[in-house]
Amino acid sequence: MDGAIARARSERGELVLLRRGDAVELRVNGVFVMDTAHTGTERELAAATLRAVEGTDLRVLVGGLGLGFTLQEVLADPRVREAHVVEIEPDLLDWHRAGLVPQTAGVLRDDRVRCHVGDVAEVITAQPAGSVDVLLLDVDNGPGYLVLDANAAIYRAGFLARCAEKLSDGGTLAIWSADTSPELRAALEEVFGGCEERAIPVRLGRRETTYHLFLAVR
Ligand SMILES: C[S@@+](CC[C@H](N)C(=O)[O-])C[C@H]1O[C@@H](n2cnc3c(N)ncnc32)[C@H](O)[C@@H]1O
Repeated sequence: MDGAIARARSERGELVLLRRGDAVELRVNGVFVMDTAHTGTERELAAATLRAVEGTDLRVLVGGLGLGFTLQEVLADPRVREAHVVEIEPDLLDWHRAGLVPQTAGVLRDDRVRCHVGDVAEVITAQPAGSVDVLLLDVDNGPGYLVLDANAAIYRAGFLARCAEKLSDGGTLAIWSADTSPELRAALEEVFGGCEERAIPVRLGRRETTYHLFLAVR
């Protein structure tokens, strides 16, 4: 049966978790954010970045939680010592804890996870310099398709420079985007001196599209 599993209101609007067949879907203000049927690129955001990072005792920061697939992939790497997850919608954390997203059940119970409720920009700004090895950002659809206008600054050079300052030497920032973005690429190149863009083909039902990961190393 299809229908709403949970609903909440915050200052940003309405958050809804829906059942669609076997899948669970997240919507904000009626806009599709993601579902549990197509999660390859959310998982690859973590997997590709962790493959590129050396060392052990890794400190990872994930923003935001969404349906939990990026975090689940982070936790699958035994080298991860701490996984900080930042989510702006407190109700979403409660829904995970209540088991409403069975596909990623238990991610918040892992001992390595530290939850932060708030804006990822503020939480990152509050971190000590050099304290993060892997920074994974998937808070919106990308700079060209924002669900929340306030997230525009996350894709600009000023905030990306703050991310660079919080990364350890050799630490990596990776950003998920629904589309390519020459502006984001240019901002990352300006701040980090380089950027790798990976275009990943995705099939959404009958539609084929490409999602993008942007990786930059400090
Ligand atoms: C596309 S989902 C993340 C999907 C996630 N990668 C996964 O694997 O399920 C985006 C999430 O970021 C949250 N979010 C949006 N803006 C945010 C911000 N500025 N700071 C923290 N979380 C934010 C949303 O509420 C939503 O849960």
